[in-house]
Amino acid sequence: MATIALNFEDGYTRIIKGRAGDTVANAAFGAKINIPLDCNDGVCGTCKCRVRSGSFDMGDNYIEDAITDQEIAQGFALACQMVPQSDMVIDILASSAVCKVKNETFAATIQKKEFLSTEIVKLTMKAVDGRKITYLPGQYAHIEIPHSGGKTRCFSFSGVTGTDTLEFIIRILPDGLSSNYLRTHAHEGETLSITLPFGRFYLRDITAPTLFFAGGTGIAPFLAMLERLHTTGGVKHPIHLFYGATTDENLVELARLDAFKSKLPFQYQTCVSNEKSEKHAQGFVTQWIDKKVLGTTAYDMYICGPPPMVDAVKKSIQMEGIHSIHFYEEKFMT
Ligand SMILES: Cc1cc2nc3c(=O)[nH]c(=O)nc-3n(C[C@H](O)[C@H](O)[C@H](O)COP(=O)(O)OP(=O)(O)OC[C@H]3O[C@@H](n4cnc5c(N)ncnc54)[C@H](O)[C@@H]3O)c2cc1C
Ligand code: FES
Repeated sequence: MATIALNFEDGYTRIIKGRAGDTVANAAFGAKINIPLDCNDGVCGTCKCRVRSGSFDMGDNYIEDAITDQEIAQGFALACQMVPQSDMVIDILASSAVCKVKNETFAATIQKKEFLSTEIVKLTMKAVDGRKITYLPGQYAHIEIPHSGGKTRCFSFSGVTGTDTLEFIIRILPDGLSSNYLRTHAHEGETLSITLPFGRFYLRDITAPTLFFAGGTGIAPFLAMLERLHTTGGVKHPIHLFYGATTDENLVELARLDAFKSKLPFQYQTCVSNEKSEKHAQGFVTQWIDKKVLGTTAYDMYICGPPPMVDAVKKSIQMEGIHSIHFYEEKFMT
């Protein structure tokens, strides 16, 4: 039986025991520690952790999108896949408080379905029992798609935490389970099953100049983060958002972003990739990952969007030698 020390971001350490053949995630779960997991299958990368010491077997049932060879070489591993072969010390990339939170499942009613563009819908929901819903800004929910045999899709919260209302900003793909449902069937007054909260892409204290990179509806978690900072105030370091979308109309909630500037040291830049724009820069958010723009400052960085966008931003940061103090990412895997 392996002894596993789990170090959390907030300085806490918990020692757990793993039975032979148990993954780290299962051993933690047995000790009532909910390491952030999503797929539990080596696909999403949510359970990525850093191995400080010890040996393990991670098998080969994971995909490159969840963890790259380079990350493995740097000492990262997937808690849902790794089986300890010795005692281990592992850094969990989340706080101990997050790992104590149990997910809750409840019924929520669609209050409003609003098209922000032809392919982006904003969904506002309330719990049927009127409960207050708490999550960390940046986290996400699983929404069960009606008549799908219990299939769920992940959506990041874009609203204010700690209220009775949930808000999501969702891209409707030309074809897809939740996309088809949201485009035609979802209607106000309908009740859905929702489970939350999930994820380790959440807002930490702002202790350094901070960069947010959003691709498409990857803006959703940043809206939740900015709502929180706007409410609490007292932010001392600049926050800069780079926000890219395919077309002008898919750059959404710009008035809301403008309003954040009044109370926060916040600014943002926008770009569109698929058409010429009179109002926004042309191209991808990577155009601003440039030493001439960002200088030699060390930043806390958050990236959210489709996997190719997240990978492109990471690559540019590395190639330009922009220094990150903390680095957090969320890929909107389909
Ligand atoms: C942690 C997390 C948080 C997320 N949060 C959000 C969010 O806040 N907002 C949001 O909009 N999405 C978010 N997503 C993505 C979302 O969960 C769904 O994957 C997405 O909406 C597609 O679901 P679907 O059921 O319509 O498609 P699925 O039925 O899952 O099928 C996807 C299909 O569409 C195809 N496809 C993929 N990309 C494209 C494309 N660009 N054009 C055409 N076809 C394509 C795929 O090949 C696949 O066949 C999140 C994902 C994760 C993992
Ligand atoms: S939980 Fe998805 S890769 Fe481990």
